[in-house]
Amino acid sequence: MPRPGLSPVQGLGFVLFCLVLGASQSYAFELHLNDSKNATCLYANWQMNFNISYETINKTKKSVVPEYSNVTYKGSSCGDEENGPKIAMQFGSAFSWTVNFTKKASNYLIDSISFSYNISDDRVFPGAKDKGIINVNDSVKIKIPLNEIFKCNSLLTLERHDVVQNYWEVVVQAFVENGTVSKKEFLCDKDKPSTTVTPVTQTTVPSSTTTPTPKEKPGVGTYSVHNSNGTCLLATMGLQLNITQDKVSSVINVNPNSTGSSGSCSPQTAQLRLNDSIIKYLDFVFAVKNENRFYLKEVNVSLLVNETVLSISNTNLSYWDAPLGSSYMCNKEQTISVSEAFQINTFDLRVQPFSVIEGKYSTAQDCSADDDNFLVPIAVGAALAGVLILVLLAYFVGLKRHHSGYEQF
Ligand SMILES: *[C@@H]1O[C@H](CO)[C@@H](O)[C@H](O)[C@H]1NC(C)=O
Ligand SMILES: *[C@@H]1O[C@H](CO)[C@@H](O)[C@H](O)[C@H]1NC(C)=O
Ligand SMILES: *[C@@H]1O[C@H](CO)[C@@H](O)[C@H](O)[C@H]1NC(C)=O
Ligand SMILES: *[C@@H]1O[C@H](CO)[C@@H](O)[C@H](O)[C@H]1NC(C)=O
Ligand SMILES: *[C@@H]1O[C@H](CO)[C@@H](O)[C@H](O)[C@H]1NC(C)=O
Ligand SMILES: *[C@@H]1O[C@H](CO)[C@@H](O)[C@H](O)[C@H]1NC(C)=O
Ligand SMILES: *[C@@H]1O[C@H](CO)[C@@H](O)[C@H](O)[C@H]1NC(C)=O
Ligand SMILES: *[C@@H]1O[C@H](CO)[C@@H](O)[C@H](O)[C@H]1NC(C)=O
Ligand SMILES: *[C@@H]1O[C@H](CO)[C@@H](O)[C@H](O)[C@H]1NC(C)=O
Ligand SMILES: *[C@@H]1O[C@H](CO)[C@@H](O)[C@H](O)[C@H]1NC(C)=O
Ligand SMILES: *[C@@H]1O[C@H](CO)[C@@H](O)[C@H](O)[C@H]1NC(C)=O
Ligand SMILES: *[C@@H]1O[C@H](CO)[C@@H](O)[C@H](O)[C@H]1NC(C)=O
Repeated sequence: MPRPGLSPVQGLGFVLFCLVLGASQSYAFELHLNDSKNATCLYANWQMNFNISYETINKTKKSVVPEYSNVTYKGSSCGDEENGPKIAMQFGSAFSWTVNFTKKASNYLIDSISFSYNISDDRVFPGAKDKGIINVNDSVKIKIPLNEIFKCNSLLTLERHDVVQNYWEVVVQAFVENGTVSKKEFLCDKDKPSTTVTPVTQTTVPSSTTTPTPKEKPGVGTYSVHNSNGTCLLATMGLQLNITQDKVSSVINVNPNSTGSSGSCSPQTAQLRLNDSIIKYLDFVFAVKNENRFYLKEVNVSLLVNETVLSISNTNLSYWDAPLGSSYMCNKEQTISVSEAFQINTFDLRVQPFSVIEGKYSTAQDCSADDDNFLVPIAVGAALAGVLILVLLAYFVGLKRHHSGYEQF
């Protein structure tokens, strides 16, 4: 079966089929490794992402979420008598990742995972204090019976030094026999029915990736989307996600410093996609209505919450309504109710999904115009009443003066 990304690796006597699914910011990877006889020796399909923090020369901490672009699998191999199989991956300009497998009696092990990054690469780690290649090694030792395929939808997080690695929706089999991937599944403990976890429900296992409920305002970030004409979408906002499960709410502030953005623009619809180490994606989809106004129509989100993936979508929203050619602005806190389980609180918002000129916001329509509309007639009424009273007062004062004038003379 031919696949894009077919790349025979020289000298190792095996053929490699690989496929990076979706856009460059997808975290899904798939790999078929074939041996010298063109029989599958290893199959893997998994999602992963990384978050690396580092210190800069001026002592500030920064964090980096790699881009999963230019992925190559050079160095992957089926193994031989001495070495077990391994998957070796390079991506971006500064990252490489390896996992190796070993065989022990009637089992095989996902042995260790090593991740290295070139902190000297100034484009990826601007202003980094340290130089050189940093290597993080984790001995995971997951034991799987031979000729069974390992599956784990739950989140596995490895945290070491300055690196957080997340893995989920993992399917892998090494030491594939007779070139046929096994149908017999071996589930990871977290996926086992005793602690039933479907990708959308939650476990009660405390998670190191869920930050404690923050009460403070989230940081405000500016996100943009570009096309061949330059910047086509602008959004500045602080975002707070409110997830409610089993009547318990937890609130996560989105840190703009470690949040990536991408998206697309077309005349009738525009999309902004944000992602970070726990937000697989958070999509804001804007549409045009009545030919002259835009609004927020859809929100699609997929989050890692308490080691499970929570995906929610609402394609029938109506927020942030403003005329085309202007931007929508709201400094006060607003709540976007995506579902009963998921709300987004926005702070210091300004957004323009269409007709951005020279990368700058156009005039803003403020949200006070949305919900305070009914106040306008009252305000006008009150002002008129005030004027009327003044006029009457002036009249009576004048009249009295006039009167007293008569009396004086
Ligand atoms: C290996 O097998 C695939 C189909 O499974 C085929 O498309 C490919 O041409 C084969 N390659 C070689 C070198 O035989
Ligand atoms: C697997 O990788 C670890 C760390 O890179 C290394 O110590 C170990 O020797 C490797 N095992 C095999 C069988 O190659
Ligand atoms: C990906 O590769 C292309 C061509 O080799 C190069 O121009 C581009 O800068 C690379 N992107 C990254 C993020 O390394
Ligand atoms: C690390 O990055 C620096 C700067 O881009 C480059 O000069 C160096 O060759 C890289 N090292 C490796 C091992 O790729
Ligand atoms: C610290 O360095 C970063 C990038 O190197 C720079 O953007 C920032 O302004 C610096 N901050 C201070 C306080 O010097
Ligand atoms: C692989 O082939 C051999 C010989 O035909 C057979 O004995 C063995 O059971 C096969 N293994 C599997 C997993 O099908
Ligand atoms: C995650 O689990 C912790 C501990 O059980 C709980 O306090 C928290 O509310 C959960 N978060 C979500 C979003 O359900
Ligand atoms: C770029 O701008 C031109 C002129 O305004 C327009 O015709 C064209 O559709 C735009 N292209 C894109 C990709 O938006
Ligand atoms: C989160 O959502 C719940 C349920 O809708 C609500 O009761 C709670 O006040 C919200 N918390 C915040 C901080 O918005
Ligand atoms: C983001 O970075 C800026 C400057 O580097 C810093 O002032 C701010 O506190 C950071 N925000 C968060 C939420 O970490
Ligand atoms: C959002 O999710 C809905 C339902 O899953 C889907 O129909 C829609 O295409 C998604 N939108 C985007 C922009 O991915
Ligand atoms: C979308 O919402 C409107 C009102 O908010 C409602 O009338 C309409 O039926 C909804 N459509 C769908 C497909 O849910």
